[in-house]
Amino acid sequence: MKKFEIEVKLTVDLTLIKACIFDLDGVIVDTARYHFLAWKRLANELGIEFTETDNERLKGVSRIRSMEILMEIGGIALSEHDKEKLANKKNAWFVDYVERMMPEEIFPGVTALIHQLREQGIKVGLASSSKNAKTVIQLLHIQNEFEVVVDGNMITHSKPDPEIFLLAAKKLNVAPKDCLVFEDAEAGVEAALAAGMWCVGIGSPQQLSKAHKVVARTSDFAVKMLADFT
Ligand code: BG6
Ligand code: MG
Repeated sequence: MKKFEIEVKLTVDLTLIKACIFDLDGVIVDTARYHFLAWKRLANELGIEFTETDNERLKGVSRIRSMEILMEIGGIALSEHDKEKLANKKNAWFVDYVERMMPEEIFPGVTALIHQLREQGIKVGLASSSKNAKTVIQLLHIQNEFEVVVDGNMITHSKPDPEIFLLAAKKLNVAPKDCLVFEDAEAGVEAALAAGMWCVGIGSPQQLSKAHKVVARTSDFAVKMLADFT
């Protein structure tokens, strides 16, 4: 235990990172799965074939942009009114899925990682494109784990635009270059890089090749890895 304490102390002394900013869906909890299931249900209703590979394009982007990408995949055109109506229908299904979610569905090891970061004086924020982010973290009882929460209701431009991460950094009072973002979406990795931040991809190294580092699961990240970002 003593060795661990010394190791962590050294790591934190050696790192530039002052804040960690987490995406929510697919990083903290498996809600990315529920987004996929709800979009797939809508795609089926519209007679569009929709695979998990197609779904990668929807990750991280706003609800309405996701709807537009689904239309591109299906090669269909819709009026603004129908586009919004169908995006709302998908959202109602998504909300229905997440309302049945249990705190046990938080990815294992994620709250422990957040606690370890905070114990080392690293600020921790949440930046999610989802307009449901606050509801989700309340349902999971993790709303107090984050010093700052920025969601889809607070921004004009969704990921891959850097706006959400820049706003989170500003609220945390940390320079973008001293922030490390945890992201499972290609659009999210692009947003973090465009914000001038460090980025850890959560998922496949092929999919998230632009990230500075990629781990399969959020809990595979250890505090000592902060020293890699200098
Ligand atoms: C992101 C998800 O976190 O939020 C996207 O990765 C989703 O898949 C986006 O489309 C918007 O979510 P919501 O809940 O506002 O429809
Ligand atoms: Mg995500």
